[in-house]
Amino acid sequence: MTQDELKQKVAYAALKYVKDVPIIGVGTGSTVNHFINYLADIKADIEGAVSSSEGSTALLRKVGIPVFDLNAVGTIEVYVDGADEINPLKQLIKGGGGALTREKIIAAASKTFVCIADGSKCVDILGAFPLPVEVVPMARSFVAREMVKLGGQPVWRENFITDNHNHILDVHNLSIMEPIKLEQTINNITGVVAVGIFGMRPADVVLVSKGDEIVTL
Ligand code: 5RP
Repeated sequence: MTQDELKQKVAYAALKYVKDVPIIGVGTGSTVNHFINYLADIKADIEGAVSSSEGSTALLRKVGIPVFDLNAVGTIEVYVDGADEINPLKQLIKGGGGALTREKIIAAASKTFVCIADGSKCVDILGAFPLPVEVVPMARSFVAREMVKLGGQPVWRENFITDNHNHILDVHNLSIMEPIKLEQTINNITGVVAVGIFGMRPADVVLVSKGDEIVTL
């Protein structure tokens, strides 16, 4: 099975978590795009979605699913999103697609966060995937120097602007032994909008496709 087929399979498996959920939180990425296409099949049963990116919003609208502002809907029952890395505590690195800030907001506002991924995303220790950090543009170099002090090698994701009009630093070479501590440390750097460690708010359920199997963590 190809990686994309694995993503498609796990996206389908998430459907059972959104039964009877009127407004679904929807993440960003290629795995979630498959999920959105499956949601289209049950759109008559749902009111709509809250979206974590302009890209997901466009796809949701294209398949006929109404998109609501988070401010208008309050607490979300279920949020479905992918991940770049997942550790055994269901803590994640996210932001490969640059949507980490809105993803964090929706995860925080959701009762249940269902993470969907193919098996290649599972790791023992987070950090082999370069850690995305969204920064206010004028703070980019300052934050980059702070990242070096933390032992990382920041690389500016050039020619990329987030949906919030900010920049992304991808921080290489971090071995994240204490995800919550590092998340808090980076959150406290002036100019950081959000860091892609989902440690304080991990996933509640992780669905992983491995060959023909869907493993639930
Ligand atoms: C976007 C994300 C995605 O969930 C993450 O990059 C995984 O993407 P994909 O499903 O394409 O592998 O965090 O900001």
